[in-house]
Amino acid sequence: MSAAPWWRDAVVYQVYVRSFADGDGDGIGDLAGITSRLDHLEALGVDAIWLTPCYPSPQLDHGYDVADYFGIDPAYGDLAAFDRLVAEARRRSIRVLMDVVPNHCSSEHPWFRAALASPPGSPERARFFFRDGRGSDGELPPNNWRSVFGGSTWTRVTEADGSPGQWYLHTFSPWQPDLDWSCPDVVAMFRSMLTFWFDRGVDGFRVDAVAVVGKAAELPDAPPVPEGTAENDVWAHNPYTVFWPTAHDHWRDWRRLIDEYEAAHPGRELVTVSEAYTPDRPDLLLQYVGPDQFHQSFCFDLMLAPWRVDTLRVTIEPVAATLTAAGAPLTWTLNNHDTQRGVTRYGRADATEMSSWTKNNLVYTGAPVDLEVGTRRARAAITLAAALPGSLYLFQGEELGLPEVLDLPASARQDPIFFRTEGRETGRDGCRVPLPWSTDAATSFGFSSASVGADAPAAAPWMPQPDDWGAYSVAAQQDDPGSVLSMYRSLLRARRSLLDPDAPLEWPELGAHAGPHPELLVLRRGTVTVVVNVGAVDLAVAEVLPALVGESLLVSSLAGHHDPTVVPADTCCWFGPPR
Ligand code: GLC
Repeated sequence: MSAAPWWRDAVVYQVYVRSFADGDGDGIGDLAGITSRLDHLEALGVDAIWLTPCYPSPQLDHGYDVADYFGIDPAYGDLAAFDRLVAEARRRSIRVLMDVVPNHCSSEHPWFRAALASPPGSPERARFFFRDGRGSDGELPPNNWRSVFGGSTWTRVTEADGSPGQWYLHTFSPWQPDLDWSCPDVVAMFRSMLTFWFDRGVDGFRVDAVAVVGKAAELPDAPPVPEGTAENDVWAHNPYTVFWPTAHDHWRDWRRLIDEYEAAHPGRELVTVSEAYTPDRPDLLLQYVGPDQFHQSFCFDLMLAPWRVDTLRVTIEPVAATLTAAGAPLTWTLNNHDTQRGVTRYGRADATEMSSWTKNNLVYTGAPVDLEVGTRRARAAITLAAALPGSLYLFQGEELGLPEVLDLPASARQDPIFFRTEGRETGRDGCRVPLPWSTDAATSFGFSSASVGADAPAAAPWMPQPDDWGAYSVAAQQDDPGSVLSMYRSLLRARRSLLDPDAPLEWPELGAHAGPHPELLVLRRGTVTVVVNVGAVDLAVAEVLPALVGESLLVSSLAGHHDPTVVPADTCCWFGPPR
């Protein structure tokens, strides 16, 4: 029996709390809604859920602006509702992860309010990055850094006496002031926060934006960026914060805290997963994951790869080799709340072009989309990702094959990226549209509970749903063997029953006989051979893979129409060993 911890090959389902299910009919997703829909997650076969931040927050970045790290936002429920969710999830053997945001808090956090009310140089300001401006009157920002969400990374404050004052640093929006981790208060607060939630039964944390937590002490100007760099990518070139090494001391401190917690609480196995985008740099990714830092760190490159054999392989093989050689686990994902949904991404007319490879999930291309093609490829992509060694993180709605909603009106958009770039970047709202559970438009397709609130109809959802959303609903898909939902369910079952978690990832040679097949990606996990055909033409297995594969075990395209001697276009198949 493997002694590996539960999370090593777990399937974790990301719940975007605001959009999953609304239990009280106010149009906003909440904890009671999640509890009421746990059956869906159990039937899907996930090991854990990760809740996006549900702490008290002004919701200017939908919870990634935390005003109190020790509570629940009233829009989402309260601590009792949280405890109920954890207990009900546990009853179904589903673990619960939260989301911790260490880089910044909300400008409504009591610490930031106190900092605004206190003079320059005060201990209250030392928890943040307050600096004097440049120019004769301090009217220019302290440096040239650009924010992830557009614009300068600095905002000037008005001092208590009404005079124009210092500036504060915010890597994201002005409502998200960065915390200075060289301040002991900051370190201590997060230590007690982790323990507070572990004591409530939480099994771990997804850790937000870890790559920007460190900062060079003098905050020097960033060097010029390469010509043609997209507006949303400028921040990523700032060497004085992105991957700045000082933060690693704090991640080591967190790991010590967690190891000690586990030692004091036998039976608890906790996990942290870091969010660090490290394009083409497995060596950098490795710095975040391991026995003295985060348990896991997302391997994001695969998510952003164009639909081509060379890019798929180059986003899997080097990171898998580097992390595996170091004994570090692999953590795959194809979707999250910051990234255009896979069905749309893979369906874009430029999905097979190198030019679409932005390597930045906030930079989208505006190419026209064919959803049928995108859905086929998304089914193939998850069938590939599910075969890789390590854990797999899903984003709510991908199991329904939801597309990105591209035509949200400007009046409905809420993402700070949209506002900070004055609409030049549409932002992430299109992947955050409330989920459809039924075909009943009167309850926002089952998103809002009709029973709560008695006779009053449920409020409109906080973000409008497209008219055809019901066709994607759980109710519409669950009894259809060809649906995306049925495929996800059987894929997760097959992953559990057919794959040996300890089997290494191998890349068999196709052999001269097979001839050049640039559309085929072939990998092996133990006795299972995984074949992806990224081309538009069906390929006969016997011709292209002689002696490599046996019985057809699984196919990502529509069930029921499958000829086992063929790997259809834009399809991933799993095969048993050659007979
Ligand atoms: C992370 C989150 C994103 C958030 C940002 C600021 O990238 O995933 O949603 O806006 O950090 O917290």
